[in-house]
Amino acid sequence: MGTRIIGTGSCLPETVVTNDDLSRIMDTSDEWISSRTGIRQRHLVREETTAGMSAEAARRAMDNAGITAQDIDLIIVGTVTADHVLPSCACEVQAAIGAEHAVAFDINAACSGFMFALNIAHAYLQTGTYKTALVIGAETLSKIMDWNDRSTCVLFGDGAGAVVLQLSSQGGVLAFDQGSDGVKGGVLSCVNRTNNNPLVETSKELGYVHMDGQEVYRFAVTTVPASVIRTVRAAGLSVEDIDYFALHQANVRILQAVAKRLKAPEDKFPISLDRCGNISAASVPILLDEMNRKGLLKPGMKIAMSGFGGGLTWASAVLEW
Ligand code: ACO
Repeated sequence: MGTRIIGTGSCLPETVVTNDDLSRIMDTSDEWISSRTGIRQRHLVREETTAGMSAEAARRAMDNAGITAQDIDLIIVGTVTADHVLPSCACEVQAAIGAEHAVAFDINAACSGFMFALNIAHAYLQTGTYKTALVIGAETLSKIMDWNDRSTCVLFGDGAGAVVLQLSSQGGVLAFDQGSDGVKGGVLSCVNRTNNNPLVETSKELGYVHMDGQEVYRFAVTTVPASVIRTVRAAGLSVEDIDYFALHQANVRILQAVAKRLKAPEDKFPISLDRCGNISAASVPILLDEMNRKGLLKPGMKIAMSGFGGGLTWASAVLEW
């Protein structure tokens, strides 16, 4: 038995912040941000939470799949910005949607979080332990940004995306590729948990996201095409067989460079980052939901997905829609 995505959903915060809005509160411009990244606006939370947006994305995915929360027996949320250390975002989603039969937990693989969660759910389902999973990527990155660091804070946004993954005898997930390189962890980091015990004196100041942008760029444009090619080959396909590449939405220049290295036309790389910015673990499921709702995804189409980011981590999948 295989697994297939039978429904998608997403949820973005109400407040839209354009590049021009940012230029009124910091020394930046629409020209600088959009020419280097392709980003024109992002949604940022006010009252919305990671769990609240996750639950809404999950409801929309279940609705799209034609199932109820009673059918869900596994919930995995990929996130680095759960609302609390405890309980997990996944347990909060379980409570919010009333998925009383589900087992629920979070995983942290940064911008690859949704893809790692999808692979974990796929593996669980294939053992026969569970039949129907909610796989969610969700972030409120704006709360861990240094809003005095214009080189990072302009890149990111908030939001959540979800899919329903179910055991299936036909099509679905054909192949996976995953990897990590912990030695390069410092390239993209957020060190903000201090030792609170009485034996040591530590700074109580919170750390924020720190990024070496050029190193991330180099990592992405070499690792992602290699991972996608390995996955496509493992699925018994060639790059030309892929109808769409639904990649993590970090930067349009990364997407263009990956397209060039794969020798694939850029119009096979759908984009949401112009309107949403980089939403880390949420970017791939939000993009997939947009593609699904626009009617771009037809039965039998081959879709390559890939996430990459902090850790460092990367993960790709090829599926038949
Ligand atoms: N507005 C105006 N000027 C800015 C801004 C800003 N928001 N940010 C930085 N600058 C200035 C800098 O101060 C610097 O000025 P200086 O030359 O006078 O010192 C100049 O612009 C160049 O700064 P760099 O940091 O060198 O900018 P770079 O050309 O490398 O572009 C960028 C930065 C867009 C982040 C680039 O490195 C990149 O594309 N990196 C890929 C990484 C990425 O997209 N990460 C996303 C998150 S990680 C992930 O999801 C995997």
